[in-house]
Amino acid sequence: MDKINIFKMSCDDTLKIAELEKECFSLPWSNDALLEEINNSNAHFFVAKNESDELLGYIGCHFVLDEASVTNIAVFSKYRNKGVGKALLKALLKEAQNSKISKIYLEVRESNTPAINLYKSMNFKEISVRKNFYSKPTENALILAFEF
Ligand SMILES: CC(C)(COP(=O)(O)OP(=O)(O)OC[C@H]1O[C@@H](n2cnc3c(N)ncnc32)[C@H](O)[C@@H]1OP(=O)(O)O)[C@@H](O)C(=O)NCCC(=O)NCCS
Repeated sequence: MDKINIFKMSCDDTLKIAELEKECFSLPWSNDALLEEINNSNAHFFVAKNESDELLGYIGCHFVLDEASVTNIAVFSKYRNKGVGKALLKALLKEAQNSKISKIYLEVRESNTPAINLYKSMNFKEISVRKNFYSKPTENALILAFEF
């Protein structure tokens, strides 16, 4: 694949991300919800694009004091397994480090092997399980954390 470029999310990206959310999740974020994050000073959202400026994926995170929580990460299915997810997560870790974040948390469905492997490959550690955290379908969440 072409080079993967990472940018801050802009209002020109949100419709495409809302489409990606619908492709991936049973309770997708809407365009309006994504647009709100652009004016949220705690929000750090990034997009990955190829050389043709096509949106490949995105990651969202909230920073509060010295802790961060990943809201979501998704890559269009035709661009998966090409390092896009890892590039997005690396950009987020760099931003978190620059902002003096000490710990990053996230939840993931316990059946979501690709995402769990991605997080573990970037040194996130499993710290607990939240029973029946997810709906549509009901499923436990694994809580993972990254410490700087
Ligand atoms: C999870 C997701 C973002 C990964 O994105 P991606 O661009 O395919 O990931 P990468 O190509 O950067 O892969 C990075 C690592 O993830 C793991 N991984 C990715 N896809 C995998 C798969 N299908 N099976 C097993 N492990 C996988 C591997 O450990 C891989 O490292 P490696 O290439 O050194 O083996 C993508 O699968 C996706 O969008 N899924 C749907 C949305 C979703 O579930 N988001 C997570 C919500 S918590």
